[in-house]
Amino acid sequence: MSLAPLQGITDYYFRNAFQTHFKGLDEVYTPFLRLDKKKTLKSSQIKDILPENNSKIRVIPQILTNSVQDFIYLSNYLADLGYEEINWNLGCPFPMVAKRQMGSGLLPYPEKIEHILEQVVNTIPIKLSIKMRLGYENEEEIYKILPLLDKFSLTEIIIHARIGKQMYKGNANPDAFEKCINLTKHQLSYNGDIISLESFQQLNKRFETINSWMIGRSAISNPFLIEEIKKGETCNKSQKIERFSDFHSDLYEQFSNTLSGSGHILSKMTHLWEYFSQSFSNSRKVYKAIKKSNSIRKFEEKIHHIFNKEDWIA
Ligand SMILES: Cc1cc2nc3c(=O)[nH]c(=O)nc-3n(C[C@H](O)[C@H](O)[C@H](O)COP(=O)(O)O)c2cc1C
Repeated sequence: MSLAPLQGITDYYFRNAFQTHFKGLDEVYTPFLRLDKKKTLKSSQIKDILPENNSKIRVIPQILTNSVQDFIYLSNYLADLGYEEINWNLGCPFPMVAKRQMGSGLLPYPEKIEHILEQVVNTIPIKLSIKMRLGYENEEEIYKILPLLDKFSLTEIIIHARIGKQMYKGNANPDAFEKCINLTKHQLSYNGDIISLESFQQLNKRFETINSWMIGRSAISNPFLIEEIKKGETCNKSQKIERFSDFHSDLYEQFSNTLSGSGHILSKMTHLWEYFSQSFSNSRKVYKAIKKSNSIRKFEEKIHHIFNKEDWIA
């Protein structure tokens, strides 16, 4: 069971706090790393993958590129840091990325994907997995790509069962995922809209041969979800607010100690509360109150109020 990469959310502070306070997670993927025009990574990205910041759980760094040269450079860099595996992003839907034939924007070009892999797979000193969508325009794209991937050595292919054009809207498409199972010799991992223990159990029953699962947004809004899926039962409700509050304090303390300026801290916490608020009663009101907090004092007052007055509903 893996935690999906979420740019702006699942940084190493989040990954480490998550692993400290919740159970059931086997591995986690970093948000994508991409070389800039000067062929360097941002200092925040470098910090995010330093081995000393990532010792609590198995971390698989993800890269976003369509350049063979950058692919090989990043693979060597990450292997030198001690990583055993990297993941190639063929799923990012954002127009700025997709228009440049990166992320899901590469999916309409199976021959380009094949060409890149032909040049990197036997050259890089590190294992490789792929995270991809069903296609950019439509799911026919993945049906063409999967057979081409059989000849490459890959640890697994994670499929986010949406197309790029959907962005994060609409439903995931498990029917299309099902068709993919017979089109590949590789191990597949399912990703998309696992929102509850029940929704996982339905998918698990349906896809008997799949034993690798990735969860994104719902593991952020309800960090007990992965633990509950692993145990096959819901966690003790009376302890949830207390456990979540400990996790939250841990995260907040780390951001307060490392981010510069209250604006930066508040915007980081507000982004997280976009997700966390969904697990509280009066979730809209909760999120609004956090969003309106324009000082650290007000934010802390609101948090105190939420933890004391609202119920955990997830
Ligand atoms: C804010 C946000 C940032 C994301 N960043 C990444 C990323 O860096 N790399 C990636 O492969 N997927 C990224 N994703 C996609 C998720 O990893 C995941 O595939 C998607 O949310 C579907 O899973 P879910 O329905 O369980 O959330 C991002 C999604 C969101 C909402």
